[in-house]
Amino acid sequence: MDSLRIIPPPRGSLRGEGNDRPLAEEQKGCRRVQRVVCPGSFDPVTNGHLDIISRAAGLYDEVIVAVLINVTKKSLFTVDERVEMLGQITARYGNVKIERFHGLLVDFCAANGITAVIKGLRAVSDFEYEMQMAQMNYRMAKVETLFMTTNPLYSFLSSSLVKEIARYGGDVSGLVPELVLSSLRERLAEAE
Ligand code: PNS
Repeated sequence: MDSLRIIPPPRGSLRGEGNDRPLAEEQKGCRRVQRVVCPGSFDPVTNGHLDIISRAAGLYDEVIVAVLINVTKKSLFTVDERVEMLGQITARYGNVKIERFHGLLVDFCAANGITAVIKGLRAVSDFEYEMQMAQMNYRMAKVETLFMTTNPLYSFLSSSLVKEIARYGGDVSGLVPELVLSSLRERLAEAE
């Protein structure tokens, strides 16, 4: 009976061989950490955001939730407050980290060894703008964007609507985490 022979692949056909992306970690028996960024304003974080973050945490080794520092946009919560709330709310996932960033998302990615962005897509209305940003980020720095379809329970949900409804005394419980609900009530009471 013929014995099976393992024929080595031609030189240069393996990742890291004959190209400029050596996989030193793999060669040492280590695996590269698969890291993804979930960027946004999170003013405040909603259950829709949390749904995406938790599902991303199930897919990736590390999820970096990056809060945009945008000095030109009026916000209800400061960046510190948003980072603090996100930290407490996502503490149950061991692989979610909260960071803040300003400037271009692709620069944040480069500085943190991140090659992919994850975004929730709620509806067709989100698609056009998200697609534009995704293609621009890829063009600028080859940063990939992965779109995750939002849980239909939250497809109508946005931070702006939550703020508007809460401001006029509407009920937003079930749409945001408890911590956000109490912080919203406090902040809006201060404003009265
Ligand atoms: O929660 P938001 O406000 O919809 O999040 C938008 C965000 C922060 C993801 C987006 O505005 C962003 O990436 N801003 C960083 C600046 C940047 O990189 N702009 C060029 C995008 S192609």
